Amino acid sequence: MLIKRTRGWELPESQVTSESAYLNRRALVKAMGLGAIAASIPGFARADDDPSAKLYPAKPNATYGAPSPVTPEKLSTTYNNFYEFDDGKNLWKMAQKMPLRPWTIKVSGMVDKPFEIDIDSLLAKMPMEERVYRHRCVETWSMVVPWSGFAMKSLVDLCKPTSNAKYMVMTTLSNPAVFPGQKDDTYPWPYVEGLAMDEATNDLCFVATGLYGKPMPRQNGAPIRLVAPWKYGFKNVKSIASIEFTDKRPVSFWEKLNADEYGFWANVNPQVPHPRWSQATEKPLGSSDRVPTQLYNGYAEFVAGLYEGRKAEKLFR
Ligand code: MTE
Repeated sequence: MLIKRTRGWELPESQVTSESAYLNRRALVKAMGLGAIAASIPGFARADDDPSAKLYPAKPNATYGAPSPVTPEKLSTTYNNFYEFDDGKNLWKMAQKMPLRPWTIKVSGMVDKPFEIDIDSLLAKMPMEERVYRHRCVETWSMVVPWSGFAMKSLVDLCKPTSNAKYMVMTTLSNPAVFPGQKDDTYPWPYVEGLAMDEATNDLCFVATGLYGKPMPRQNGAPIRLVAPWKYGFKNVKSIASIEFTDKRPVSFWEKLNADEYGFWANVNPQVPHPRWSQATEKPLGSSDRVPTQLYNGYAEFVAGLYEGRKAEKLFR
């Protein structure tokens, strides 16, 4: 292994979800009356200083179902994976220092013409909507949240990839001054993820710029992140600063660290265990009970067809 520290998902299943201990700490804080103080800290669970605030809430799109119950906002905005800040879950306070503007997205590779676009110009061009999606982390915790943003297909259309492009590669901003975790060279920064072109242009594939009818909180990947809800959560790259179209399959951040455990496709499948724990069930954030995990995280009707011709691949890791 290239890394010196143990990540959450390297633990045996009995220890995978440290969330219950974390939530107990939260209950203690609440009992001590500190919850209200946390809620009043500027930037908590929202990005008040975000100039795109007027775009939210966006019009709901219920085409993909309305899974429930929706996870309480305070849980999904205070229990995060964002290794650029920290390898623990309690990083939301640290993330509030992240500047949201200027934010430019660079589009390059196999496109008609490479370009850069600032986030507000991009938002002005995109058909904003809200979708409630399930999110299933490979570590076995899950949530249901209302994302705001736009179909990835709309972004792909704007980028105008050439017919040779086979993959879309998205990369998180590189800036160790903003992201202290990027000073730790045991990780292969920057965080990179990719999709095949037919995945990226599938109707279910979403680009999120908001959460709970407000601009995206920094800890959840402001100002722009991927949401591919049929895949394990690690595919959903946060705080995207560049997009490249290519004919070569990218090697993503976790695949570079441990290709035996984390692959390119990473589709959710309860029948295919992680090498060190079962994926049969999951623990919704805020719940003490585990529930069955669903094939493609419950979205098989929308995406199973993408993989008909790819059965020889490791689709579920
Ligand atoms: N993107 C970046 N840049 N860095 C990360 O550490 N973690 C991934 C994904 N995107 C991560 C990332 C993982 S493992 C998960 S489960 C989700 O973000 C968590 O998203 P959330 O914090 O909004 O729940």
